[in-house]
Amino acid sequence: MTISVTGATGGLGGRVARELSARGLEQRLIVRDPARAPQLPGAEVATASYEDSEAMARALDGTNTLFLVSGYEDPDRVSLHRKAIEGARLAGVERIVYTSFMGAAPDATFPYARDHGATEQAIRDAGISLTSMRNTLYADAAPRFVRPDGVIRAPAGHGRVAWVARADVARLAAVLLTEPGHEGQIYDVSGPHAIDLHETARILTKATRRAITYHAETLAEATESRAGHPDWLVDSWIGSYLMLDTGEGSVTSHTIEHLTGQRPMTLSEFLAAEPSSFAHLT
Ligand SMILES: NC(=O)c1ccc[n+]([C@@H]2O[C@H](COP(=O)([O-])OP(=O)(O)OC[C@H]3O[C@@H](n4cnc5c(N)ncnc54)[C@H](OP(=O)(O)O)[C@@H]3O)[C@@H](O)[C@H]2O)c1
Repeated sequence: MTISVTGATGGLGGRVARELSARGLEQRLIVRDPARAPQLPGAEVATASYEDSEAMARALDGTNTLFLVSGYEDPDRVSLHRKAIEGARLAGVERIVYTSFMGAAPDATFPYARDHGATEQAIRDAGISLTSMRNTLYADAAPRFVRPDGVIRAPAGHGRVAWVARADVARLAAVLLTEPGHEGQIYDVSGPHAIDLHETARILTKATRRAITYHAETLAEATESRAGHPDWLVDSWIGSYLMLDTGEGSVTSHTIEHLTGQRPMTLSEFLAAEPSSFAHLT
């Protein structure tokens, strides 16, 4: 069975590739720039960009199972994903393990969750078996929510999130890619427990040793404080907080511990394990 991994030059795909390599498995890394591909035992490299379905099909030739990392923030991201999926279909890929988002659905509050729902559907429409990892917000991203003045300003109310570390998501992905029984399955993927942004700020304060607080913005404040950015990006940023307030992004799942046998890290444990994630705050 050939496993191919996209996004291997990035944070999540790179971790997944290292997990597979550490298990002694062979894999193919699909990258845009081979010079930046990680050098790993058992890994070969093929070059393709999601935009180019034919190049994706060539790069994926002989692949049974594909780890497909979602592309960068873009208003037309679903079209990009459709092209990558078309490449997988042309190559005869049987199953895609896709990095979706919690609450993925056509009517989700968070615009990216709507995009992920459309991408999941595109995989099914291509006749490819989908294993969906509906990840919540990455713990790795939490320090980036803090503004330079030490305040997290967001319209999340008292909404909660079970921050999940990419390292734990990657451990789960390795299981989903290599063990049987995950065809056609959808998994909510989260850290061990949900906390609100006041608690998040307290944990960041302790880790960074600088005062960090949370200010729950009104919708009007949230729009005003992000003025000057494109509307689609502002809608996405605001939506990422509103989905905590509605509870759509607050689900806590036992998927990682259940399927990997190891409890995922809390936000505190993640910050202790990866202090480089908050270096910009110290
Ligand atoms: N749950 C969350 O909180 C959260 C937060 C941030 C992002 N995300 C999503 O999760 C994904 C993975 O996260 P990450 O931390 O690994 O992101 P990352 O470090 O930015 O890596 C993204 C990877 O996707 C590749 N890529 C992007 N567009 C591509 C294209 N058109 N064709 C081929 N490859 C392409 C990049 O390749 P290059 O190196 O060539 O650019 C890179 O390897 C992100 O892309 C984003 O969709 C989720």
